[in-house]
Amino acid sequence: MAPAPEKFTLETTNPADMTEAEAATELANLAAEIVRHDALYHGEDSPELTDADYDRLVARNRQLEAAYPALIRADSPTMRVGTPLSGTTNTGHFGKIKHARPMLSLNNGFDDEDIVDFVTRVRKFLSLSDETVAEFVAEPKIDGLSLSLRYEQGQLVQAATRGDGTEGEDVTANIKRVDAIPKTLTGTPPDILEVRGELYMNRDDFLALNSQQQDQGGRIFANPRNAAAGSLRQKNADITANRNLQFFAYSLGETSTTIAPTHWELLAALRSFGFAVNDLSAKSQTVDGLLASYRMVGRTRSDLPYDIDGVVYKIDRHDFQARLGQMARAPRWALAHKFPAEQAETTISAIDIQVGRTGALTPVARLHPISVSGVIVSNATLHNEDEIARKDIRIGDRVVIQRAGDVIPQIVRVIPESRTGAESKFSFPDRCPICGADATRIEGEAVRRCRGGLKCAAQLFEGLRHFVSRDAFDIEGLGARQIEQFIELGWITSPADIFALGAYKEPMAALDGYGTVSITKLLAAIDSRRQIGMARFIYSLGIRQVGQATARLLALHYGQMDQMMAALNPQADLSAAHAALVEIDQIGAAMADDIISFFGNADLYQIVQKLLDVVTVLPPERPANNSPISGKIVVFTGTLENMSRAEAKAKAESLGAKVSGSVSAKTDFLVAGADAGSKAKKAATLGVNVLDEAAWLALISAT
Ligand code: IVH
Repeated sequence: MAPAPEKFTLETTNPADMTEAEAATELANLAAEIVRHDALYHGEDSPELTDADYDRLVARNRQLEAAYPALIRADSPTMRVGTPLSGTTNTGHFGKIKHARPMLSLNNGFDDEDIVDFVTRVRKFLSLSDETVAEFVAEPKIDGLSLSLRYEQGQLVQAATRGDGTEGEDVTANIKRVDAIPKTLTGTPPDILEVRGELYMNRDDFLALNSQQQDQGGRIFANPRNAAAGSLRQKNADITANRNLQFFAYSLGETSTTIAPTHWELLAALRSFGFAVNDLSAKSQTVDGLLASYRMVGRTRSDLPYDIDGVVYKIDRHDFQARLGQMARAPRWALAHKFPAEQAETTISAIDIQVGRTGALTPVARLHPISVSGVIVSNATLHNEDEIARKDIRIGDRVVIQRAGDVIPQIVRVIPESRTGAESKFSFPDRCPICGADATRIEGEAVRRCRGGLKCAAQLFEGLRHFVSRDAFDIEGLGARQIEQFIELGWITSPADIFALGAYKEPMAALDGYGTVSITKLLAAIDSRRQIGMARFIYSLGIRQVGQATARLLALHYGQMDQMMAALNPQADLSAAHAALVEIDQIGAAMADDIISFFGNADLYQIVQKLLDVVTVLPPERPANNSPISGKIVVFTGTLENMSRAEAKAKAESLGAKVSGSVSAKTDFLVAGADAGSKAKKAATLGVNVLDEAAWLALISAT
């Protein structure tokens, strides 16, 4: 018999009299309890608490967080987007909007060499001769959140957040209340105009907001970006209206007519339509010029009223941008040059081990809380045991830490001069602290992993949390707390079991916190996910290194889940499968290794197979499937005169073709440039359709 859920008692101890550990435990309990009551409330079940009692829980949570800001949990009720500050709950759900054109993110560069590489790569892609000038624009990278604003006949009709890039949230009602965003355009804008840019909050407004929140016992924001995001995602648009949000425009989505031949002229046009455009932007033709802009902007950084985290370089000519196109998540024609991370000094109070969904044992340093670039840091990852040894990190050490953007803080180095002799070395466990299974290291790997697999509660729990998360199966009502409980009860031992939870309707109703309505809702949410897109499905599996973009590449490559399962069957020729994976643009050998070792593991393969028995995976939508090369296998050989090999390959892929490196009987087209060698011969013997460059250009321009 599983233990009955513990009864929750609201503590009243003065936070000042508590240890950090006690506060952390209580915050964890409060988070779970508040989530449970939110679910009850939304399930339209008779809530267990009166509004006043619910408010007391929230107030206690806030009191503890105010005393221990470092302990604010990622899943804290006050951090949940859209959660109002009063007792009246709110799911924070906005409608979804599919972007007419995807909203991309940017690739990052960190040092001068990355910028040299970027410019070289771009010029090479475009086959520019040394004498040809290509201008770039350098503009500050605003640390806010991107928005897409749609205007029709000059009127603001829709505003969406970036979301996953394909689909964002409908924030029109709130954005209409932001003074800095024009509701009616000036000048002569096209009939349809989608303007993209960054919504942000000035640092002064952020500090004033936080002190007001402090006085009123409201949510404290970690930085201006979070404050801007939190202010936007309010159910009550009056709140958004009062937050003095700002906006810089910097690019376009869909437009009914072309606006300008270059980015620079586009910025001027955006200004003429009434948008704020950052005036630190500068044009340059050389890497040195771009780097000079970067340094200039870096020097003014601290004097600016808003946060920036780097400079973005964009090639100026729009026709060049179009030819360069995009990779999975970012355009080839732009690069973000990030500013170096800010550093600070603190002390390590303890080292804990966390077990991730791939079983990795990750040491985490607990730090004396300290503020770094406006964010309070109390944990830092130590990566793995070698890292601890290499940096000779001991418990009690003074250390230099750094934060780079959203990246988890890292320990840069120990300050040995500060040692007193009271520091202690950390001995890394060789057993999983969660399930007790052996934790071993494979030769050549830095990470020690728990070998308990999904039999380890930590791995199962983390794996399932990922599985149900927003960008994966997106099952509402199945949160961390429910997963934990169902694992404990033995109802879920693998993802497929989620789809059989209907069998536990009765015992579920007997659990604390589950009413008929909330159970029905949960089961309906699960049922609605029995059909799922292939990219989402692959992403949900939680394969190491396989994020949304890679999942999409895999989905497009295999086309159908059956195909993928056949190619990656543990009994199949996995070295051939590996070779095929590496052929996919943007999948490297290490990523292919992880994909192969996931499916090559008979247990995991079985788990996926079981899942496929209960869900239907829909094949991915192919871009431009009306093109004559959509779905075809194309091989390039020889030298092309009109475009570089990289551009040709990217173009073919954007038209839905698969580009392969070698000719086989499956090849549909061989595009042979000048001096084509053995591949052309092989193609001829196999009867493959061989095209010269002119025929190839004719074929792709037919679309
Ligand atoms: S251009 C297709 N320009 O940075 C190009 N982005 O790290 C899309 N950002 O998602 C972005 N300032 O939210 C561009 N001047 C700027 C920017 C900027 C800030 C943000 C944007 C983007 C993110 C990528």
